[in-house]
Amino acid sequence: MSDNPYSTAVLAWYETNARDLPWRRPEASAWSILVSEIMLQQTPVVRVLPAWHAWMERWPTPADLAGEPSGEAVRMWNRLGYPRRALRLHACAVAITEEHGGRVPDDHATLLSLPGVGAYTAAAVASFAFGQRHAILDTNVRRVLARAETGVQYPPKTQTKAETALAESLLPPTPSVAARWGVAVMELGALVCTARTPACADCPIAGQCAWRLAGKPAYDGPPRRGQTYAGTDRQVRGRLLAVLRDSAHPVPKEALDVVWDDGIQRERALDALVADGLVDPLDDGRYALPG
Ligand code: ADE
Repeated sequence: MSDNPYSTAVLAWYETNARDLPWRRPEASAWSILVSEIMLQQTPVVRVLPAWHAWMERWPTPADLAGEPSGEAVRMWNRLGYPRRALRLHACAVAITEEHGGRVPDDHATLLSLPGVGAYTAAAVASFAFGQRHAILDTNVRRVLARAETGVQYPPKTQTKAETALAESLLPPTPSVAARWGVAVMELGALVCTARTPACADCPIAGQCAWRLAGKPAYDGPPRRGQTYAGTDRQVRGRLLAVLRDSAHPVPKEALDVVWDDGIQRERALDALVADGLVDPLDDGRYALPG
């Protein structure tokens, strides 16, 4: 096994261009890295930064979080979006505390067994926290590999086995180098090989990029999903949850009814929050964050 044709250039680029993010520092705990990965999955870095700092200050260890009601995790999640992640992180903290002596497990299979931890998160934590050799495939990495290797503008909508095999074939043999490669490709995708306006002039592997060398052919697959938010049930759920987060006490139904005019959509959103365990309907008719 030898290093892939891009690794030297990408690693050198990362050396001088990486953002100084707190979860990438040598002193970052495995728990803080797990928290960052779950927050970063669907939320941009700039919005994650303050939330991550606040979270780590309040709950520096899994046991600290496990000792509080899950509703406090939902409250702290604030406006990061996709708040089921807060419940999963709380469930993770409980499992780590009760089943793993309070320490984040260091092997991929055990990480994968934690609630809400999928293949990506398990690989990211094993790699970034414990320096192991795992293929890291997030949206940024998938886009870089689609362009550099496959020669297409965008990766398929859902991850394929071929992408996993490709990412594995590119992993440098030395675990610590593989771990650094993983975060370096991710950063290249986030800062240079961006979705809409890639800065090929700044790219360390532009000379080897199959997509660029082919003349950057435009994407010709099925339409890509836009991130619409306004008017969606997700927006209504966000508003309902904000009322509960901003209140120290359970609230009456009327306090929820004022956030959205369309009663049918509002009730549907509230039902979904209750079904997801994010909102607790109390026996007295009021609503609360989960206990
Ligand atoms: N650094 C480590 N993991 C990251 C992620 N998921 N997004 C952005 N930067 C990261």
